[in-house]
Amino acid sequence: MGGGRKRRRGGSEAPAIHPRNRYATPAPDFAALASLYPSFAPFVSVSRGGRASIDFTDFAATRELTRVLLLHDHGVSWWIPNGQLCPTVPNRSNYIHWIEDLLKSDLIPPLSSSNKTRGFDIGAGANCIYPLLGASLLGWSFVGSDVTDVALEWARKNVENNPQLVDLIEIRNANKMSCSSESEAVVGEADRENTLEPVDGVAWSKPETLNFCMCNPPFFERIQEAGLNPKTSCGGTAEEMVCPGGEQAFISRIIEDSASLKNSLRWFTSMIGRKANLKLLVSKIREAGASVVKTTEFVQGQTARWGLAWSFIAPRKMVVRSSTPGRANHSFMLHGLRREYGAFQVLKSAETFFHASNLSCKIDSSLFSIDVTLSDDQAQAAMFLDESDSVEGVSTKLHSAVTGSSFRISVFEQMPGTLLVKGSLLNKALSDTPLLVIKA
Ligand SMILES: C[S@@+](CC[C@H](N)C(=O)[O-])C[C@H]1O[C@@H](n2cnc3c(N)ncnc32)[C@H](O)[C@@H]1O
Repeated sequence: MGGGRKRRRGGSEAPAIHPRNRYATPAPDFAALASLYPSFAPFVSVSRGGRASIDFTDFAATRELTRVLLLHDHGVSWWIPNGQLCPTVPNRSNYIHWIEDLLKSDLIPPLSSSNKTRGFDIGAGANCIYPLLGASLLGWSFVGSDVTDVALEWARKNVENNPQLVDLIEIRNANKMSCSSESEAVVGEADRENTLEPVDGVAWSKPETLNFCMCNPPFFERIQEAGLNPKTSCGGTAEEMVCPGGEQAFISRIIEDSASLKNSLRWFTSMIGRKANLKLLVSKIREAGASVVKTTEFVQGQTARWGLAWSFIAPRKMVVRSSTPGRANHSFMLHGLRREYGAFQVLKSAETFFHASNLSCKIDSSLFSIDVTLSDDQAQAAMFLDESDSVEGVSTKLHSAVTGSSFRISVFEQMPGTLLVKGSLLNKALSDTPLLVIKA
């Protein structure tokens, strides 16, 4: 995910709010909202310096803020009962915009030529926040699933109270859905009456294209872990926040289901609450045979979350013939880089990408190069990295189409902020075949 970056405690840089997030700048103006919405005013206090704020440890205040933001900025009428998980609108918008980035990226081809986007929210909750935001901001249509009566009742109310969104959002009871794997259905798709013959072992539904699924899983194994942030009160019942094995078990089940559903969905995604779980989940996704894995970090105030996305769709092939037959290397310059994105960061980023693509590679830090070796099968496929202005994105300027068996990428620092990236085929015998093409 691109966007501004903010300095966090400990000096590390972390991506801040998504640049298309409407709360990127300016942040919500509590005083202005209080003057427009009398029911919000009692929750707003103004400091001696004139700064308006609310008490984020007060559930009623955070719920009223969410209500007025959804109404004022998105035209959405919304409410949840006491104690249900109250979403922060800026924070949830980041995930929506990240999915928008994934869908726009040409990393993998679209499932159909339709320009309509349909997503599946696993665990929409009573607040139904992702379908409401995705539909109102971007016109996406959604299936939102949940398992509890209160979530299903209030998610439906929140849709029905917004006639402009009724045709875009459907709430389904996940308990009544068919399972796509032995495990409890998480991404189970259709009501039983819609179920067709199993496809690839999946009890699949009426044919419908889903461009993505998303999930803010129950993060915790025990409810005591949930209310640990004394600075906020976002509510959240045990049903919403807790599941056996916590988010790792929940997302593992989504991964299992995704391995059955494979190309029926373009992007599988989930939010992750604990960075420590990221590595294991990424390796499970690789084991499941995904062709692409992407991660990002969402930061909102003091809260960090991670986004995980994967797909089984083969990366778009882009075999570009060398304009100069026989040339065994190509190069390009990267200009205007931020100081922290040096040659080594670009190489590390390329390494992460190649590993995520199941390619064998080795960095030589003394030569500032990375050697990549392809199996015969891999040599048939093209490799992709997507675009963003993150360090990940810098290396992803290396759009490649490769039919050689091994190649080297070298990165040279020309001057601060400028890197020369050179790709060379190591097997010279192949130099007349289409070769590594690096496209800036
Ligand atoms: C952390 S809440 C997320 C609610 C909302 N999406 C949000 O971001 O605020 C997790 C939700 O997942 C639901 N859930 C738990 N198991 C589920 C399952 N197997 N299928 C669908 N939803 C489930 C819970 O009831 C709860 O509403």
